[in-house]
Amino acid sequence: QNCILVGAPMDSGKRRTGCLMGPDAFRTAGLAAALENLGHRVSDRGNVAPAPFTPKDNGKIHALEETIAWTEALADAAEDTLKDGLPIFMGGDHALSLGTVLGAMRHADRLNRPLFVLWLDAHTDFHTPHTTDSGNLHGTPLGYVTGREGFDGFPKVDNPLPQENIAMIGLRSVDAPERAALQETAIQRVDMREIDETGIARPLTRFLDGVEAANGMLHVSLDVDFLDPSVAPAVGTTVPGGATVREGHLVMEMLHDSGLMTSLDLVELNPFLDERGRTAQLMVDLAASALGRRVFDRPTRAY
Ligand code: ARG
Ligand code: MN
Ligand code: MN
Ligand code: MN
Repeated sequence: QNCILVGAPMDSGKRRTGCLMGPDAFRTAGLAAALENLGHRVSDRGNVAPAPFTPKDNGKIHALEETIAWTEALADAAEDTLKDGLPIFMGGDHALSLGTVLGAMRHADRLNRPLFVLWLDAHTDFHTPHTTDSGNLHGTPLGYVTGREGFDGFPKVDNPLPQENIAMIGLRSVDAPERAALQETAIQRVDMREIDETGIARPLTRFLDGVEAANGMLHVSLDVDFLDPSVAPAVGTTVPGGATVREGHLVMEMLHDSGLMTSLDLVELNPFLDERGRTAQLMVDLAASALGRRVFDRPTRAY
């Protein structure tokens, strides 16, 4: 594959800062070399910068203009890089997906293919600027790309992402307004209880089968807090009871086996909160699994 690394040192999606150091932490943890070792061509296009903006006071909404400026720049970056290969967006907080998913939608529209989104996260990030309590726009990207109301000033979403094309896996922290809104949708929601009961492979297979049947493109958005804080402490919004290291790798390995992934976000890494780089390293290892790293080729013999 032609892997294209794109830094998105975006920190405006919430108040606690530090995610702007994420791209360099991913570089330091050896993301490019890990993918090269798998036989991929890898290029690093450096960091995206936001379009010019003028900050205003928007009451409870934090850094609205800056977030809009990033959304414009990242949508362009996603659209451009998808023409050339498989972009990997090194965040940056999850508000960067306002732009990367929008760009992926435009790209898929042009190819006349449906886009699917896999959201690996403790949170549903389905707020709008009207429903958010925290005012943190990293909690809104899936509200935006599905065409919910309230995103005045953001680039217009011409063809909203169909709800059926989204799966959220790893859920364990959902705000009341998000839950109420999601109840009315066809978005596939997989909480930790379902993972405990059936394993993570089953809901993922169900989703990937749908992507394949539709000849879809697949954008994967991996939030650090999808993982359990005991193995991935470097994130501002930790929630106990998350995915294990093995569940994380299994998802990534299955994504590689499917051959369906066309773009990837690595988001919410806050290196300021990390312990000797372990979270950055785990995220790099997960990305490597998604791009083909494995212990043995399948099928293995269990005896
Ligand atoms: N739902 C909460 C909020 O709106 C948390 C969102 C966390 N999102 C994230 N990308 N970590 O503030
Ligand atoms: Mn362009
Ligand atoms: Mn998130
Ligand atoms: Mn999250």
